[in-house]
Amino acid sequence: MDIQIREYREEDKEEWMRVHAIILSISHAWNYTIQERPAYEGHSSTRLVALAEGKIAGLTDVQYENTPGEFCFLKDSLAGYVLEFGRLPEYSGHQVGKKLIDATIEDAKKKGFNRLEYWTQDRNAQRYYRRVDMKEIGRHYRFRIRPKQDVVDLLHKDYVGVEYLYCACVPEEWPLIKQKYEVIEKHPLEPHLCIGFEIRF
Ligand SMILES: CC(C)(COP(=O)(O)OP(=O)(O)OC[C@H]1O[C@@H](n2cnc3c(N)ncnc32)[C@H](O)[C@@H]1OP(=O)(O)O)[C@@H](O)C(=O)NCCC(=O)NCCS
Repeated sequence: MDIQIREYREEDKEEWMRVHAIILSISHAWNYTIQERPAYEGHSSTRLVALAEGKIAGLTDVQYENTPGEFCFLKDSLAGYVLEFGRLPEYSGHQVGKKLIDATIEDAKKKGFNRLEYWTQDRNAQRYYRRVDMKEIGRHYRFRIRPKQDVVDLLHKDYVGVEYLYCACVPEEWPLIKQKYEVIEKHPLEPHLCIGFEIRF
């Protein structure tokens, strides 16, 4: 199947949103949904779509830093943080992901950047990033806890009600956190190990 990569255009917006929603529903990578197409104001960005049979089969967005460490974990150089990346399930086996990554690298080079970070909570995507030889640069747990009464009371003084707290910790502290706090385990609020990967070029 012929897969073409090209820049996102404003007229793609509605289709892009629908494709994004399907990709989001098959991955644990995202911890929120979006109702508006991100614009990345004030930042340079790469916004690409993969086309198959004239339709959007995959997409990727990268937002580039204005200062090192603004979005990325490593701070040794200005880099791009990949916010959106995926393809529709029916286009598996056609190298859509790899073509999007290669085209992203070319565009990042043109814009004067030499590093990209891909972070994900999705286990399939983690296996994929290893498979395409990305280097792991960090990991942490992301999880939600029921706050203890002193935290509830403190916020309540300022008229703030709290349903749960969205938190992160390094893997070494995870067993302790689970002992000390009531971690929400039920989908869709369950904990995830988030792993960061980078590509340098
Ligand atoms: C991750 C994702 C983009 C991969 O895209 P893809 O188009 O299926 O991958 P490619 O076709 O480019 O695969 C390249 C190679 O990796 C292999 N591969 C694909 N998925 C893999 C996986 N989950 N684990 C290990 N290897 C994998 C392919 O078999 C292929 O091998 P080959 O070169 O020997 O043929 C896709 O699975 C996806 O859209 N997932 C849902 C969204 C998501 O989680 N995105 C990550 C956001 S952080």
